[in-house]
Amino acid sequence: MFGKNIYISRREKMKKMVKNGLIIIMGNMESPMSYKDNAYNFIQDSTFLYYFGIDSPDLIGVIDADTGEEYIFGKEFTLDDIVWMGQQKTFKERSEEVGIERFKEKDELLELIEKTKKLNKKIHYTNQYRVENTIFLSELLGVDYKKIDLEFSELLVKTIIKMRSIKSDEEIKELEKATDVTREMHIEAMKNIEPGMKEYELVAILESVAKRYNATTSFHTICTKNGQILHNHCYENEFKSGDMVLLDCGARLKNGYCGDMTTVFPVSGKFTDEQKEIYRLLVAMFEKAEECTKPGVTNRDVHLEVCKVLANGMVKKGILKGSVEKIVEAGAHALFFPHGLGHMIGLDVHDMENFGENRVGYDEETRRSTQFGLKSLRMGKKLEVGQVLTIEPGIYFIPELIEKWKNLELHKEFINYEEVEKYKHFGGMRYEGDFLITENGSRRLGNKMPKYVDEIESIMK
Ligand code: GLY
Ligand code: MN
Ligand code: MN
Repeated sequence: MFGKNIYISRREKMKKMVKNGLIIIMGNMESPMSYKDNAYNFIQDSTFLYYFGIDSPDLIGVIDADTGEEYIFGKEFTLDDIVWMGQQKTFKERSEEVGIERFKEKDELLELIEKTKKLNKKIHYTNQYRVENTIFLSELLGVDYKKIDLEFSELLVKTIIKMRSIKSDEEIKELEKATDVTREMHIEAMKNIEPGMKEYELVAILESVAKRYNATTSFHTICTKNGQILHNHCYENEFKSGDMVLLDCGARLKNGYCGDMTTVFPVSGKFTDEQKEIYRLLVAMFEKAEECTKPGVTNRDVHLEVCKVLANGMVKKGILKGSVEKIVEAGAHALFFPHGLGHMIGLDVHDMENFGENRVGYDEETRRSTQFGLKSLRMGKKLEVGQVLTIEPGIYFIPELIEKWKNLELHKEFINYEEVEKYKHFGGMRYEGDFLITENGSRRLGNKMPKYVDEIESIMK
């Protein structure tokens, strides 16, 4: 948690931007895993964390933009709670720590809503991603639950996105720490992998690094010998010499800030010549993105420049043919890079995507494409100083996709399917880092990560 002035000034800024009405920010409730008292690890809603800082279930933040009054509604601990959970700081005390003088019992919220309705004031709430909160809001506001996500406040959502997109110095420090824990997870994996190990054994080793820092993972770790499966959550395979590990994982600090990195490394500790060749092309894509990522350009243009590097490399290998520009315009390169270059990161690993990918990653100026590959670019809009986003190009040979395109003779003027066949069993590679947009360009967060073949091989020795 930051000092109380940070939360106070964020709420003041929000009030000025929303101007009038009653703002409701829902904290998360516990989410049962198998029965009520056996819940999933509690994750606080990131917007609630941003404005109200308290990492506990069952709280609702309310701000009256007209009067300036601020509240947290919840349930104060009872003696029964203390018997089971030990002595706790009261919610009144915790609310004061974030500058809120009015901690109220949850039942009193309805009264405030009724009063607000009588005054004909606008009630602002955001679109919801947890069904419990949708039902709660539906009952509280007397709105059909199906309408909750149709009648939310676009102004409030836009305000939150605008504020949270630009990271402050203290947030950048936390993101830097999250990136460093993430880095250590990767280095530990590189140092410990050996032929014969199961994927889940490597996961156990690298996730224990996060635990050592009192952190959790920011999303389900991807640790696989089948890197061509983009979000592979299966850990059952055995790593053999000659395989590559694709590791995409991140730490989530206790305070919510997230890291997200991908590396690929050879199980044996030495890349084969073929692996080196593809990996070097991947690094060239990453470095093109590093070079182009700066304020004022759209991330969509950066993505397209990176695609051109891929297309050019593939033309040199005889896998693609024709003009690089035309290949990328047609989207033929997406056979090998079907996802986007990256996304914003912060208190969520895909920051604020609960509000909708397009609201976060696009705007009136930059609209989302429907073309295969480019349509999966989550962040397309113009880059601004203070944003933090991932750069994560990949090169994949996905047998099912290759087969399908080949049978359809898709982009056959650009794709040499005979050559593609030779790589069908190669797998896939991705490399990912977290970047802050600076005045002059961008800066990779965290301590130096191994990137080149010799750097990776030397760590694995
Ligand atoms: N693993 C999710 C991502 O890198 O975006
Ligand atoms: Mn990732
Ligand atoms: Mn990512």
